[in-house]
Amino acid sequence: MTGRRRSPGSPEDAPARARLLAGFAGQVRDALGHIGDPAYLETHPLTTFLPEDPRGRKAVRGRTLRQALLEAVTSLHPGAGAVNQAPHSRLIQLRYVDGLSAREVYGRLAISRTEYYREHQRAIEAVASILRGRWEIETSPSDSPDRARAGADLPRPSHNLPIQLTSFIGRERELVEVKALLASSRLLTLTGAGGCGKTRLALQVAADLLDRFADGVWVVDLAAQVDQALVPESVATTLGLREEPGRPVTAMLVEYLHPRQALLVLDNCEHLLRACGDLADSLLRGCPGLRILANSREALGVAGEVSWRVPSLATPRPSERLSLDEMARYEAIRLFVDRARAIRPDFALTDLNAPAIAQICWRLDGMPLAIELAAARTNILAPEQIAARLDDRFRLLTGGARTALPRQQTLRAAIDWSYEPLTDSERKTFRRLSVFSGGCDLDATEAVCQGDGIECQDVLDQLSALSDKSLILVTEGPTGARYRLLETIRQYARDRLIESGEAEVARNRHLEWFASLAHRAAP
Ligand SMILES: Nc1ncnc2c1ncn2[C@@H]1O[C@H](COP(=O)(O)OP(=O)(O)OP(=O)(O)O)[C@@H](O)[C@H]1O
Ligand SMILES: [Mg+2]
Repeated sequence: MTGRRRSPGSPEDAPARARLLAGFAGQVRDALGHIGDPAYLETHPLTTFLPEDPRGRKAVRGRTLRQALLEAVTSLHPGAGAVNQAPHSRLIQLRYVDGLSAREVYGRLAISRTEYYREHQRAIEAVASILRGRWEIETSPSDSPDRARAGADLPRPSHNLPIQLTSFIGRERELVEVKALLASSRLLTLTGAGGCGKTRLALQVAADLLDRFADGVWVVDLAAQVDQALVPESVATTLGLREEPGRPVTAMLVEYLHPRQALLVLDNCEHLLRACGDLADSLLRGCPGLRILANSREALGVAGEVSWRVPSLATPRPSERLSLDEMARYEAIRLFVDRARAIRPDFALTDLNAPAIAQICWRLDGMPLAIELAAARTNILAPEQIAARLDDRFRLLTGGARTALPRQQTLRAAIDWSYEPLTDSERKTFRRLSVFSGGCDLDATEAVCQGDGIECQDVLDQLSALSDKSLILVTEGPTGARYRLLETIRQYARDRLIESGEAEVARNRHLEWFASLAHRAAP
């Protein structure tokens, strides 16, 4: 490796460095989230997890994540025998190099589960700091003016907002609205289907509000937390608090946050609704200067909560005749072009490809995740070819950034995350709803969705649950409420319906319903 070691940064560099380290820590955490796939650590180069800066990538070129973790173990405790190593260093070795399960590791280290999670956080920070060291060797202050400037812009480092590696697009109206709601309510939950942009919007709001919260803005990512009981610990770890023996963590959090003006962003609460709701309730009652912005596919369901559905990105109707300039103002189009340009710098919106790009964005319902996955395909396909393959979108849209959460790497995984926790009856109703292509009213839904364990009168409850979980959209029409699935979600439900072997029955019920309607309407 070439390059000079960077001299200790000047004081005004400190926020930039803190931000860089926070960014690495986030990426290491995400990378470790892939541990379910044994081949992953072996085969993925470290560059996958680093900001897309050519100098930074050069610093770690040729190393896999596994090698970096091994290096982390040795550089944390060079030459020390296993027995003398700090628990977090042994944790890295046992969990990520030797491949033991989390349970086996805390047994082997003779520590409690709570201590395990604390050590795990330390391990992440240690690996991140080693990566940062590597980065610094390759980059000198003089050759990274942009980064120094980005750091200087930061009001202060009392936050842990992750560095965003891609541009934030549009959402001007939503930002104003969310900030206004957060000013008037202390618990605001952004809801919406997987990949609709909840996290990204919340992080942007949080970044814009740094000045408003004198004691900091803290993001707690709960995606990897599976234990409801450990939600308070996750918050404490983020705030850098140490657990006190015999004292409930929630009480400790209340005491710490009571005198503070702070914003807590609880990201990915949908699988931990009860714990997040209970914690939010206790914190808001005990801490007058605290506000909570939660992201969840389903609202937490506690008193005082305001929930707000994140809308799709603005998308032109494919039938609209628009100039290129008008087209380029739509958020969905901008997102597609921006992400395509990251792959092919010469990519541009042209008269030739604009209709196909508009069609892609429209058929993907303006869903940011799906649009990003579609744009990733411009590495080998023209927009016209991508548009032509959208009927098979789950096979086409699989090439997410490897730095993304596992559930955001493919379109199917994004919806699996919502489908898998459903009850059997909710799944059945959801699958059967896919036979309606343009939405349906309650009578039609009851006629088609009942049967095989679902009574007619249960259908309403199922619809309500599916709507709460952001899987169906409810709109008001002239004849009452209508229920609709976004096209991507409908195709997913249809695939599941076919897999379940119930497609023919559901389609026949659908036909019978419309035949009987026609019969009744006949003079
Ligand atoms: N306004 C935006 N500008 C640029 N990129 C965006 C925007 N909104 C969303 N994205 C990108 O789209 C992808 C999905 O967005 P995000 O992660 O915020 O969705 P989500 O609703 O939080 O999904 P999940 O339910 O899986 O947590 C991300 O890669 C994100 O960076
Ligand atoms: Mg999210």
